[in-house]
Amino acid sequence: MKILVINGPNLNMLGKRSKSTYGSKTLSELDAMLKKQGESLGVDVLTFQSNSEGNLIDFIQAHSSEADGIIINPGALTHYSFSLRDALADSGVPFVEVHLSNIYAREDWRAESVTAPIARGQISGLGWRGYVAALRALVGELKGDASE
Ligand code: DQA
Repeated sequence: MKILVINGPNLNMLGKRSKSTYGSKTLSELDAMLKKQGESLGVDVLTFQSNSEGNLIDFIQAHSSEADGIIINPGALTHYSFSLRDALADSGVPFVEVHLSNIYAREDWRAESVTAPIARGQISGLGWRGYVAALRALVGELKGDASE
């Protein structure tokens, strides 16, 4: 089983970027942790980050045929990218949307997600733990594991 973990614009700056909002873990620490979690769950985790909408779409198109699930934090694209939404929809792969911060407790424009309506679910505001929770939940569902 393979899970894609995709991070959008500016998330390469984790660890430097407003730590009080996004936490102090870097993206490579987060990716390494998720790969380790994946190992303990018996799944392959392939991570990807881009600041470019087109690169994110290219990655989804190139890898969705080999993927069983996607965890994605689209960054600010969450709030307006219909082309990213279309790529996720076209992939046919179940995905969980994750946000480090609680997008409902910030500026009004962040409270809208164009991708959430087609997501399997959304986790917002739990920091890096949200990614771990998403991975466990998605893998548990995909495996049909009643204990997950
Ligand atoms: C974010 C929330 C977005 O509004 C913001 O543009 C980000 C990060 C989050 O993880 O909390 O880049 O997706």
